[in-house]
Amino acid sequence: MYLLKQLGDPLLDDVHEMLNSGRTDEGMDKLMFGLLHLRQTFAGEWQAFVKDSCRQHPVKDLLHKSPFTHRAYHKPRGYAGDAVMMDYVYALDQELGINTEQYTDIYRYELATPGCISVRERRNIAARYIDETARANPQARMLSVACGHLREVRLCENLDEDFRGTLFALDQDEESLEVVRKYMMEPRVRAVNASVRSILTRKLEIDAFDFIYSLGLYDYLNESVAKRLTAEMFRLLRPGGKLLLVNFSPNLYNIGYMEAFMDWFLIYRDEFDMAALTEEIDNSAIADSRIFRDPLKNLIFLEVERRS
Ligand SMILES: C[S@@+](CC[C@H](N)C(=O)[O-])C[C@H]1O[C@@H](n2cnc3c(N)ncnc32)[C@H](O)[C@@H]1O
Repeated sequence: MYLLKQLGDPLLDDVHEMLNSGRTDEGMDKLMFGLLHLRQTFAGEWQAFVKDSCRQHPVKDLLHKSPFTHRAYHKPRGYAGDAVMMDYVYALDQELGINTEQYTDIYRYELATPGCISVRERRNIAARYIDETARANPQARMLSVACGHLREVRLCENLDEDFRGTLFALDQDEESLEVVRKYMMEPRVRAVNASVRSILTRKLEIDAFDFIYSLGLYDYLNESVAKRLTAEMFRLLRPGGKLLLVNFSPNLYNIGYMEAFMDWFLIYRDEFDMAALTEEIDNSAIADSRIFRDPLKNLIFLEVERRS
């Protein structure tokens, strides 16, 4: 711990000074890269450094002036990564009514980080899949698992009056579903208040989907749950249906910052880990599968198609 503190404590002091003197971007860059290196080099002592140095340092109060970092750290709904937090990421290009006074310099910096850009792209990619599915079959049944506020729907062009299918929006958080219901286009979008447990235990009463996707959930699932859920969601597909999953890759540059100052610990997966998620699916039922990254390469997508 001695070497880690010897390198880490002055980093926190320097960044504190930079942020206090208005050098936000320079200070935040230094902090992000510095913490990333410390986390990689001193993996065994990282947690103790976070607890004893980062969380005790006055720079924490400056960083928590960002509503994004503040909410992640304090977890008003009991877990990090709730749908309101996601809105803080989407706010850059969707009008979500966030008070402009909340746009502190640090929050602006965060909105421009590659991780946040990738999350917005993740939403855009999901919207494209939904549109493609609806275009191919105007009666399609789709399921968003852990939908949050389902913001991707606002970017879709094909869920219009000609669409006679349904996008089911499943989340365990009733408050998030209330937001979905406000702009819900019944019967084209239907909120389902349920946990992924209902899928794992085969209690979900809807099935035969043409497209199932999940954004921002797998980053929290351990390997065995993730594999089982993948197989169970695949089971809910119609012949020819598609499953789309996504996970943060381990090369996200602000992992150290997220853990130290947002208390946001994710499970990161590389391409091999994503491929392994299909292990509990009967191979003969898979028509095709592919793995791809978003343009900034922070996220890894897995698409699996059920045989017709
Ligand atoms: C990071 S947010 C992602 C929301 C949305 N999909 C997006 O990308 O903006 C994670 C969502 O997962 C939901 N969630 C977490 N655990 C869940 C569970 N066991 N069952 C259902 N939903 C869950 C949370 O309520 C939250 O809305």
